[in-house]
Amino acid sequence: MRVLVLGAAGLLGSNVVSIAEDRGHDVVGTYHSTAPSFDLPLYELDVRENERFRELLIEHELDVVVNCAALTDVDSCESDSRLAYEVNGEAPGELAAACEGNDIVFVHASTDYVFDGTNADPYTETDEPRPVQEYGASKLDGERTVQSYHSNPLIVRLSFVYGVHRSTDELTGFPAWVRGQLEGGEETPLFVDQHITPSRAGSTAEVLVKAAEQEVSGLFHVASRSCVTPYEFGRRICEAMGASTSLLDEGSQAGLDRPATRPEYTCLDVSKVEDRLGRAQPTLDEDLAAISDAL
Ligand SMILES: NC(=O)c1ccc[n+]([C@@H]2O[C@H](COP(=O)([O-])OP(=O)(O)OC[C@H]3O[C@@H](n4cnc5c(N)ncnc54)[C@H](OP(=O)(O)O)[C@@H]3O)[C@@H](O)[C@H]2O)c1
Repeated sequence: MRVLVLGAAGLLGSNVVSIAEDRGHDVVGTYHSTAPSFDLPLYELDVRENERFRELLIEHELDVVVNCAALTDVDSCESDSRLAYEVNGEAPGELAAACEGNDIVFVHASTDYVFDGTNADPYTETDEPRPVQEYGASKLDGERTVQSYHSNPLIVRLSFVYGVHRSTDELTGFPAWVRGQLEGGEETPLFVDQHITPSRAGSTAEVLVKAAEQEVSGLFHVASRSCVTPYEFGRRICEAMGASTSLLDEGSQAGLDRPATRPEYTCLDVSKVEDRLGRAQPTLDEDLAAISDAL
């Protein structure tokens, strides 16, 4: 397949590039502000530049476009919601329309933050989205514009993405922050009133590429099988590192003064993707074991 990865310098995008190349595909990438250090054709592109995007589609005779580009800072989306809607909401629809017009498969990443967090059990794809902050609302808008403009897109909702960045080889996201805290000898309060099913970027990218190869379309939740609090996640990271948990404290997000509200419970039910691909999603411990060298 000839694959274009939008947002190739991001955590997920870098993993999609790496897995797609490993699986023998021809890969082209775009980046926004900083070029990743991949040895492949790379183009600077703001995903709102639709004419330039259409030129790339024609120039590279693509089979698949994977959109990993997004405004992912939840609090920034709250303070600049117009930009959030342009990048996360409107642009994906325009990208999908261009792909539809050129008979190209469109894969799009979304988020667990489309949910309001009031469930007691993991959210399924048929649960009603009800975002509680601008980031989630803009991403839900993106899902809907993609579904309007492409006849059979693949849309995957992820949760708490972390992993090894495949351009820099650096551990990225929550485990990197926890490790930094431990190395600095800092007391580290971690929330016990938030529940997530962390998505490792590497295992997620593998699902995206395999699903694209099999021309799977529809809406899927792609995350680990483990529904945990950040506190529990931190403890598992310590175990995987062989480090003491003595610096970890039970913390709460309730009293925090942040621009954007976070839902308390956004664990994702992954049975639909497991059934469709005929394989189990990893547990959190399996995902952490897969990046043990980086930990
Ligand atoms: N991170 C999470 O915890 C999480 C959770 C659930 C779902 N997701 C979703 O997963 C996907 C991948 O996220 P990630 O964790 O890989 O995030 P990331 O590392 O922040 O990557 C996002 C990339 O998008 C680029 N970007 C931002 N604005 C752009 C624009 N206008 N045009 C083109 N590119 C632009 C960024 O480039 P610059 O930095 O150069 O601007 C960055 O490289 C996103 O759709 C996100 O919503 C993430």
